[in-house]
Amino acid sequence: MTKTLTNITLKIWRQSGPDAPGGFESYAIPEISDEASLLEMLDLLNERLIEDGKEAVVFDHDCREGICGTCSLMIDGQAHGPQKGTATCQVHMRVFSSGDEIVIEPWRASAFPIIKDLMVDRGPFDRIVEVGGFITAATGGAPDANLIPIPKPVADASMDAAACIGCGACVAACPNGAANLFTGAKLAHLNLLPQGQAERYQRAEAMVETMDAHFGSCTNHGECEAACPKEISIDVIALMNADYLKAKFKNRKALSRS
Ligand code: SF4
Ligand code: FES
Repeated sequence: MTKTLTNITLKIWRQSGPDAPGGFESYAIPEISDEASLLEMLDLLNERLIEDGKEAVVFDHDCREGICGTCSLMIDGQAHGPQKGTATCQVHMRVFSSGDEIVIEPWRASAFPIIKDLMVDRGPFDRIVEVGGFITAATGGAPDANLIPIPKPVADASMDAAACIGCGACVAACPNGAANLFTGAKLAHLNLLPQGQAERYQRAEAMVETMDAHFGSCTNHGECEAACPKEISIDVIALMNADYLKAKFKNRKALSRS
């Protein structure tokens, strides 16, 4: 049954630009349906701000279905908020209570500088994907299903890694600002499949070294896995580390033969 929440206070981080000083501003939401999503509540707040001649709160969103990875809010100090395995756009007001104060901030990571208010620049993720998150080997047209036999556990593990939506919560949740879960997922997605083998070790070396150039180091806190809306397993990091180590030998050998 639908309920109406009353007396919600939002404490929202406002910052006019990357180098401007930021700070929290409070906004009262007198009432809101518990069926509304958190982003719908921000939409309503923005309509009110615009009607009052004030600047709307800038925040990222696109699909609002948990699939694009665009939404990115720290809600009460947790990346994507209090619900496990849930992206910001899928957080609904029913997880809150009347009288709650909800603190909303942008991702906090030096690799993701704030553009404005709650929107950050996640370009360093693109740099990682640009150096290896693809297959260039000519594979011809789409083959018939099952033409390349792939054991089910391998296909499942690759598919699980491919669920990464590139949201950046893993980086925001990590005390070191490390991007190992994201990079590990992107590598596992391709490196586990037969089609990914030709470039497996070049991909591992290039993506890990690009990651290291932009992000902090992993010290196995596990906060990334806990914050991930797609529940990507931290196992992808172990796979990435093993592939990177092998790459350092295999790529040298290949170079010495060329
Ligand atoms: S690994 Fe999870 S938290 Fe990190 S970018 Fe991918 S979906 Fe987001
Ligand atoms: S808006 Fe697309 S995942 Fe949230």
